[in-house]
Amino acid sequence: MIRILWIAVTTLFLGSTWLSAQRMDTMAMHPIQPIAPATVTNQPMVDLGAKLFFDPRLSKSGFISCNSCHNLSMGGSDNLATSIGDRWQQGPINAPTVLNSSMSVAQFWDGRARDLKEQAGGPIANPGEMAFTHDLAITMLASIPQYVEEFERVFDTRVVDIDGVTKAIAAFEETLVTPNARFDRWLKGDRSAITATELEGYQLFKSSGCAMCHNGPAAGGRTFRKMGIVEPYRTDNPAEGRFAVTGRDADRFSFKVPSLRNVELTYPYFHDGAADTLAESVDVMGRIQLGKRYSPQENAKIVAFLKTLTGDQPSFQLPQLPPSSDATPRPNPFD
Ligand code: HEC
Ligand code: HEC
Repeated sequence: MIRILWIAVTTLFLGSTWLSAQRMDTMAMHPIQPIAPATVTNQPMVDLGAKLFFDPRLSKSGFISCNSCHNLSMGGSDNLATSIGDRWQQGPINAPTVLNSSMSVAQFWDGRARDLKEQAGGPIANPGEMAFTHDLAITMLASIPQYVEEFERVFDTRVVDIDGVTKAIAAFEETLVTPNARFDRWLKGDRSAITATELEGYQLFKSSGCAMCHNGPAAGGRTFRKMGIVEPYRTDNPAEGRFAVTGRDADRFSFKVPSLRNVELTYPYFHDGAADTLAESVDVMGRIQLGKRYSPQENAKIVAFLKTLTGDQPSFQLPQLPPSSDATPRPNPFD
């Protein structure tokens, strides 16, 4: 009896390790892996970061927040070719989504910020974006008692500083991942999660070489690659890409390979925002990166596949911002 039980248990055990090894194998064969849900270790810090992300008082005008250009109701982007900054200034480059940006090797199209914390200080003091200074931002926050209390709860000090501000924003941004896309469910074994057409699109995506650059859980974000490998990319946008950071000639016109997660939501495309539709961006990519001309049917299949990469959008309670105090400097939108 015991012997039979033992055999049954071993068989079950070996069987299940074999099965999970099989599953690991099939997952490893795919260039794109499922996104893991965010694990929050410090909820109070994330909550503070959410408030700061939505607080337009971090801008000179009192009108522009991170969410103005990275609208979390629109895939973390502004759906504009280039963003609108302080005093309606035209931004120089397309705003990438903040969704899943924690998975990227570095931040910005040219990777000039190492990580989300380093990035978060940039826009506040950028004259073309929020047009504030870090000192003014800190003065503003320190004038609001509820913010001071919240900083104390999170950082154990009543001194509000830019280090805490950027840490909290980065902690919030790390929660902005989008698991559970239909393609992820398919990768995990749910064969009915995508249609036959979408699957054909995925196969084309792989066989034609898109996955050489767009791979990993974010389907991009891992490397800098030249825009226009087979044919040059024509644009009026003066951005030089990675060259601006390294000064190496080989990096001229090399940009961070964007994540293709939620790409259905983050139009228009490319660093200059010149491609309005997914069909157009797939056509451009095929031609200039791979020397391929897709038929309209092939193009449509790849587009259908790309739309299976839309995951669960972040869900959190819309933060309620503490009111300004009498001492809070007033916004200055018009001069
Ligand atoms: C006026 C519009 C605007 C505002 C406001 C703004 N951003 Fe951005 N953001 C951009 C643009 C444009 C870029 C791309 C700049 C570049 O690559 O040179 C960018 C890039 C980023 C990136 C890098 C994403 C990637 O994939 O490389 C992150 C993260 C980010 N912003 C977060 C924030 C945070 C946090 C705030 C608020 C503190 C903020 N942004 C405010 C327009 C804006
Ligand atoms: C050699 C690397 C490489 C290959 C191959 C490649 N891409 Fe890209 N892809 C990039 C880079 C780099 C960008 C950003 C270029 C820019 O904006 O200047 C990009 C941008 C995109 C965008 C726009 C994303 C956005 O948010 O702006 C889409 C969509 C896209 N690629 C899809 C594809 C598809 C589909 C294929 C295959 C037909 C493909 N790519 C092949 C490197 C590559």
